[in-house]
Amino acid sequence: MNILIESKRLGTWSPVMASAHVPVDQVTLAVLHGQELALWRNKQGTVQAWENRCPHRGTRFTLGRIIDGELSCGYHGWRFASSGKCTAIPAHPNMTPPKTICANAYSVTERFGMVWVALGTPDEDVPAVGPLADSDRHAVFCRSFTIYRSAEEVSHQVLQRRTDYLAIHGNSILIEENGPAVQSILLFQPMTAEKCVVHLWVSCTKPKPDEAALKRKYIEQFKRLRQEIELRTAA
Ligand code: FES
Repeated sequence: MNILIESKRLGTWSPVMASAHVPVDQVTLAVLHGQELALWRNKQGTVQAWENRCPHRGTRFTLGRIIDGELSCGYHGWRFASSGKCTAIPAHPNMTPPKTICANAYSVTERFGMVWVALGTPDEDVPAVGPLADSDRHAVFCRSFTIYRSAEEVSHQVLQRRTDYLAIHGNSILIEENGPAVQSILLFQPMTAEKCVVHLWVSCTKPKPDEAALKRKYIEQFKRLRQEIELRTAA
């Protein structure tokens, strides 16, 4: 039996959002280890993860919008390319912005239907989440749950309550619901010392399942588990 608790090393990749929830035309907020992130996609569809703070006056990038594949700050409209560099300052249309004006970008990648971010230099590859990578299985994203407990506490409580699990990585827990035929996968996103997000996936053997029914079942099941964890650990 392995119990692997999520590490707070800045070089560790953490899941921050389902890829499907980062569309091309909007800026999306995520929080990792207390750091606000602005997630968005450039024209090529490559996802970006920036510190949620404009280098001009500190306005949150998530108050901005995407224009022609660039992020436009919501306050003075400075534009930033996906390289992070400022490309235009509307108040000075004839000026080429200095190269030093740059958004603070973090390491980001997409794997297994999720956006992963490392706040520091990644010291390892994105963890292998086997059932989500297995082309012989169906992977279904159910929902992301905010839980008012730390990722470590939630991991611990899940492992206390479920015996039918395999811990497969520091920030994921695999639970075999029906032998290996149906597996639920919990991916942990540490937000703060008191709060985390759990991204719930279900993986099942072929043929293709009734996704709506599967989602309903596992979302309800995890809601009960969340309530149990929050009530129990509040006592
Ligand atoms: S605060 Fe962002 S452009 Fe001024």
